[in-house]
Amino acid sequence: MENLSRRKVLTLGAALGIAGMAGTSGTAWAWSGKGSIAGSGTGADPFQVWDDTADAVAKALLAEGKIPAVNTAWQGWIDNNAPLPAGMPDYLVSYLRQVNKLPSWADPAKLAASEKLYTRLSSYLFVSETLGSGIMSTVIPREARAVYWSAGGADMKQRAAKTFTFGYDLHNSKAWAPDGHFVVTANKTRLVHAAVRNLLPTSAKYQDGADQPKPISNGDILRTFHSVATYARSNMLKWHIALSTAEQEADLHAWQVALHLLGVQEQFIPKTWADAEAQAQQMLWPVLGPTDEGVSLAKTLLGYIEKPTLGLDSGFVNELVRYLLNDQMGDWLGLPRDYAQAALVRLEWPAYVAFREGASKIMPGSFYLFDQFVRGISMLYLNNGTSPTQTPITLPVANRPG
Ligand code: HEM
Repeated sequence: MENLSRRKVLTLGAALGIAGMAGTSGTAWAWSGKGSIAGSGTGADPFQVWDDTADAVAKALLAEGKIPAVNTAWQGWIDNNAPLPAGMPDYLVSYLRQVNKLPSWADPAKLAASEKLYTRLSSYLFVSETLGSGIMSTVIPREARAVYWSAGGADMKQRAAKTFTFGYDLHNSKAWAPDGHFVVTANKTRLVHAAVRNLLPTSAKYQDGADQPKPISNGDILRTFHSVATYARSNMLKWHIALSTAEQEADLHAWQVALHLLGVQEQFIPKTWADAEAQAQQMLWPVLGPTDEGVSLAKTLLGYIEKPTLGLDSGFVNELVRYLLNDQMGDWLGLPRDYAQAALVRLEWPAYVAFREGASKIMPGSFYLFDQFVRGISMLYLNNGTSPTQTPITLPVANRPG
């Protein structure tokens, strides 16, 4: 019998119209559009939906060799209300005129509330997003492989810095204000993804293990959203951080607008946190698993967080990752055990948060260790917030070299 590769199975699945074949879980898509902000759906599988308009723009930019000029032109394009920069092709300008704005359903009061909430919680969010979501991304097989085989995979320090820019610009006291940065950062990111969708299918090494015709479908973006935002909310609740209903709604709303800006259709964007949890149960948790690429990326990322950057012991960092994710993910990534640090983290992180939040008067013995860690992680973000001199988001022109 012929040994079918995953790609052949995918092509066969697509030809037979098997819904959900493109999802790594192999199960049919069964999330109702009723739980979306659109209130209904066409029944489409988000793993079979990409971003046609943005992809066509990126395709033309790549074919015409315009990307270096665009990267130069938009380096100083940062503020939400800044005019579009000169020096870009007309079709890019007219595309950006359509998309570089808030959707009609964006609620300014909720966005303003998200700015306040994120300012209050930023240090916890940064911990959840770096050692939690950042490392979780390496056990999301499609994401790990896409990141590894794209240009940024060869320089993970810079790639992580660019991703921090997105987090920093969103969790900012003026993310949505005219002189905030998030709308522009999200639009740049959407175009980076569009460029990657054009580039990765030309990488033989990426294609070797690919199970979809092009990467970063709407479903994949939602999956990452859950690994960041749905997961962060569950961490805040687990750590007993006070979150009012209005604050939780503001958090979700900021992400709903962010997903829209990243090119996700409204029929797939969850309406409530309960809808988001249901979606994550279906599309995130069952597909996690190790890949060679993900193990390599995790090693590189953790190397940056340990001694050279924050002066932290690797046993402490590894056990913090195991605490934030779980032992199965830690084992997949081959993180060595340090049982003394494990006991410290499990006992003292909750005590640290409780003391910091005023819920407990007892200062844990390791307060300064955790404080050094939390401050260090925050500095990673702050050093990479958008400014013309810091790590700008640029469109790639090629895949990972070699
Ligand atoms: C690039 C954020 C989903 C793969 C980027 C960048 C940001 C970002 C800020 C630009 C920085 C850079 O160039 O490295 C996000 C967010 C997502 C999301 C907020 C969802 C909420 C995904 C998914 C995949 C993916 C689902 C793959 C399955 C990539 C790749 C790059 C990239 C390959 C380009 C790396 C390079 O070569 O430079 N993303 N991303 N992203 N993203 Fe995403």
